[in-house]
Amino acid sequence: MHVIIELSYLLSSILFIFGIKKLGSPKTARQGNTYSALGMLLAIVVTLFDQHIVTYEWIIIGLVVGGAIGATMAIKVQMTGMPQMVGILNGFGGGASTLVAMSEYYKLMDPTRGFTHQDSVTIALSILIGAVTFTGSFIAFGKLQGFVTGKVVKYPGQHPLNAFLVLIVLAGTIYEVMFPGTEWLMLTLLSASLLLGVLLVLPIGGADMPVAISLLNSYSGLAASATGFVLGNNELIIAGALVGASGIILTLIMCRGMNRSLMNVLLGGWESAGSASTTAGGASDKPQGDVKSVDAQEAAMIFDAASSVVIVPGYGMAVAQAQHAIRDLTNLLEKKGIKVRFAIHPVAGRMPGHMNVLLAEANISYDKLYAMEDINDDFPNTDVALIIGANDVVNPAARHDQSSPIFGMPILNVDYAKTVIINKRSMNAGYAGIDNELFFYPNAFMYFGDAKDAVSKLNNEIKEL
Ligand code: TAP
Repeated sequence: MHVIIELSYLLSSILFIFGIKKLGSPKTARQGNTYSALGMLLAIVVTLFDQHIVTYEWIIIGLVVGGAIGATMAIKVQMTGMPQMVGILNGFGGGASTLVAMSEYYKLMDPTRGFTHQDSVTIALSILIGAVTFTGSFIAFGKLQGFVTGKVVKYPGQHPLNAFLVLIVLAGTIYEVMFPGTEWLMLTLLSASLLLGVLLVLPIGGADMPVAISLLNSYSGLAASATGFVLGNNELIIAGALVGASGIILTLIMCRGMNRSLMNVLLGGWESAGSASTTAGGASDKPQGDVKSVDAQEAAMIFDAASSVVIVPGYGMAVAQAQHAIRDLTNLLEKKGIKVRFAIHPVAGRMPGHMNVLLAEANISYDKLYAMEDINDDFPNTDVALIIGANDVVNPAARHDQSSPIFGMPILNVDYAKTVIINKRSMNAGYAGIDNELFFYPNAFMYFGDAKDAVSKLNNEIKEL
């Protein structure tokens, strides 16, 4: 029986790894999800057959209640609310790891059992990482949902206090490992870790939360992996390590896409991020020149004369839910024989893959979606670059203005297109809180309005031509 269980766990882990591999491309992502889900089903079924399960009633109650809550949340959540949902799910993962570790701790307190060194190390780590993840994720959720201030929070003595807490936690962990079974110490470790989760995430600005959530996701994996060691469950060790590693890789990709170090995000870097201020960072010089704007009819005429168009979606498209109107625009332009492609910046929007998911929801074919590095050289051969609610990811200051907070961030070279049409509601800044000199370029035209409304009006005008 033991061999069958371990072989099944191995098979399930292989399914997880292939699943993650297939998630790497939109074409195979659904298949990847199925593989991983099968792996998880196998892991659950096998665990239920494991000899440690003494009663099934609680498991069934948990499955029914948890499954119903999870399914309702997943059905109801809006695409723009996904970061919060991922955040809260990470929190539950961390909380579960902590509870399992604590229950093992109390089991081992029984004088007939006793702690080995491996028990005490893994239990302490599981409680520590799990508790930080639990409270940290709930603060992240609160920030994105607006329950907790989304501003960068700074207060006197912040860093010394955090350092002191880290010290308590480390010293407590070491002591607990050396002299396991001291209940008050374990409870102090738990309380300090819970507090540390709050204090570490509270200072981070709301707009940086997707990066923090990705990091907490990685922590939840590490906590699960530590719990796997506590329980002696190989499947949990492997699955937790996979989540831990992929979470940290995603965090680093997001930081690189924003040209920021992880430390900069964690210590509350761009202080004005998320605000509508137009003079953040060092970019205090306002761009000079005239801003030209077009109405729907004039924009339609520009498209009528074009033979190639690249559409660049950004956060504003997600806010306005303009993806369906954009699909209609794509169909209209293609009917006129115009080549239409989409350029996707790795950090456009507010979460990884944000634009891809929204465009897929509107049935825009994956073949039309190009990653930044695959389309950037093509902008000089493009007649019209149409920007829908994007700002920072097309700001040329990133290429040359060393005083700009986004200097060095790779951007989409839309300004090299023959004509650039920018749709947004006003001249306001984006996430980084800085002006965009693109709006003043001679080949740029602003097309003001809410993205969904503006694209629908444009569609009506194109139909008239
Ligand atoms: P942003 O730079 O945030 O700009 C979005 C623009 O959309 C705003 O300037 C806003 O201008 C416009 N907008 C808002 N609502 C709109 C609506 N209803 N209709 C039309 N336009 C609307 O967006 P971006 O270019 O996608 O760049 C993303 C930014 O977020 C980057 O700085 C990135 O580093 C950061 N970030 C990304 C992530 C991930 S993983 N994607 C995570 C954290 C942070 P108006 O107010 O004038 O309309």
